[in-house]
Amino acid sequence: MQSEEIRKSFLEFFRTRGHAVVPSSSLVPDDPSVLLTTAGMQQFKRYFTGEMDAKKDYGSASVVSVQKCFRTSDIDEVGDKTHLTFFEMLGNFSFGLSGQGGKKEAIQYAHQYLTEILGINPERITVTVFAGDNPPAGGVPYDSESFDVWHKDIGLAADKISKHDRKDNFWGPTGNEGPCGPTTEIYVDGVEVWNLVFNQYYQQKDKTLEKLKTSGVDTGMGFERLTAMLQGVEDVFATDLFEPLIKKINETAPHLKDREVRIIADHLRSSVFLAADGVRPSNKEAGYILRRLLRRVLAYQVLYDIHGDILADAAKIVKEKFGAFYPEVANPEILEVLESERDKFQRAIALGIKELPKYKTLTAKDAFYLYETFGLPWELIAELAPAAAKNLVRKDFEEEFSKHQEISRAGVEKKFGGHGLLLDTGELKAKDENELNKVVRLHTATHLLQAALRKVLGNEVQQRGSDITAERTRFDFAFPRKLTAEEIKKAEILVNEIIEKDLPVQFKEMPKEEAAKTGALYFFKEKYPDKVKVYYVGRSLGDAFSKEFCGGPHVSNTLVIGKFKIAKEEAVGSGVRRIRATVGGIE
Ligand code: ALA
Repeated sequence: MQSEEIRKSFLEFFRTRGHAVVPSSSLVPDDPSVLLTTAGMQQFKRYFTGEMDAKKDYGSASVVSVQKCFRTSDIDEVGDKTHLTFFEMLGNFSFGLSGQGGKKEAIQYAHQYLTEILGINPERITVTVFAGDNPPAGGVPYDSESFDVWHKDIGLAADKISKHDRKDNFWGPTGNEGPCGPTTEIYVDGVEVWNLVFNQYYQQKDKTLEKLKTSGVDTGMGFERLTAMLQGVEDVFATDLFEPLIKKINETAPHLKDREVRIIADHLRSSVFLAADGVRPSNKEAGYILRRLLRRVLAYQVLYDIHGDILADAAKIVKEKFGAFYPEVANPEILEVLESERDKFQRAIALGIKELPKYKTLTAKDAFYLYETFGLPWELIAELAPAAAKNLVRKDFEEEFSKHQEISRAGVEKKFGGHGLLLDTGELKAKDENELNKVVRLHTATHLLQAALRKVLGNEVQQRGSDITAERTRFDFAFPRKLTAEEIKKAEILVNEIIEKDLPVQFKEMPKEEAAKTGALYFFKEKYPDKVKVYYVGRSLGDAFSKEFCGGPHVSNTLVIGKFKIAKEEAVGSGVRRIRATVGGIE
């Protein structure tokens, strides 16, 4: 049976049994407690609680849907034969039932659909039911009704019905609160195909369960796995749903392993569906998920030297395969979104790749820094610098990541009223890769400026502060008087001479005391960690033109900075001067 027919037969089966057909809701839910839609019931949450009335809205208290879903929980499993990020879920739902209502009908429908419509031999079916929690308070009793329906009404032998606890046979809620309840799961040849949930409870934020006034039915059947079973394959990627995309990837990159082909296929398909629902790559929430999926594909493209336009191919193939059922995937804007992310990625990683040789060993913090600043994905870091990365552990990297997410969320909210910045070190601020490129050049130029001022004016010059945006650098330093026009010119010329020498910019990491002994400049107000990086401009630390305690990022070679120009010199208080300067292409 082709996938299109399966969808149709499911909707038709329930439609003829009084269920209203409801289209899939968006992958971006209106429920703020969840990032993306993970289950078919999500759009119906308020019908289960009784806040809304399905009879009024749909003309029936029962509905059926094929829902677009996205689960990040399985993202690391993708690559095997069954796991996906984006998938479709077939589901039927009933609301406002009295008592334990709805179980008999729901179980009978499910059995009938599987055996009569899909033609699955009843002998292949086994099921599980909820065994019950041992009360005390809050306990949920054994679901004897479901057992009885299976055993007495359907006639399933008792040894084909197993009982399991809350871990396996209790579902929900989605997000941090909502409807939930005991489940009965249907297996065909030992593989789970359908989950029937009986929503009898509401889980509060503090995890306590309250009985719902009315009960409901919420079922979900993973569409890709069902399709695989019906098409006689074990691998969801071998179904007609994936066949054209897999074929194209194999043609474009015949040297890839199956696992990589599956990851690329999954992530491309998911990216198209996310973009179709209005998700845009960013460093936050759903946007970050899309960015991560796309950048993994793009990293593979670099790593395995994949030629061919896989983004355009994917957009076209997904449109052809899914556009009839999900018209939103035909939107031409989707490809623009994917391609613009590709262009950003390519610019950013080019900078990041240049940073890699500077590291003898890479810590999780370094890897995270490279990721954060340049978008260099974990996979690429490990692949391009295998020696330096040999002790890197993914888990440590992920920890850095979650630590940072908490800090940056709080920080960004406070400073910028929630506007995301790609880079914010306090000193450097950039909102995208284009700005990043500019502030990095200005940052190195600022180091050169400080060194040049000390050469021209003497060691009285000491940094008091700096602030770098994509437009200019602003450097404050201690000095007792106004600079002459000639001094300004001299400093400017000196900086440009160094830039033109195309000197390398490198760093060495060392204990703070040792770093101070190298003569590297540091900012007296700043609290440095025990180990610091000394960034220096020159072929060696010993004869460097500039050396400073600094966290980076910097250009790799001075020539890319471009022409340096001092725009203004002024006083900002007694004994403190301020210089504003720009570099080529930023005026
Ligand atoms: N809501 C249930 C699930 O997602 C059916 O498995």
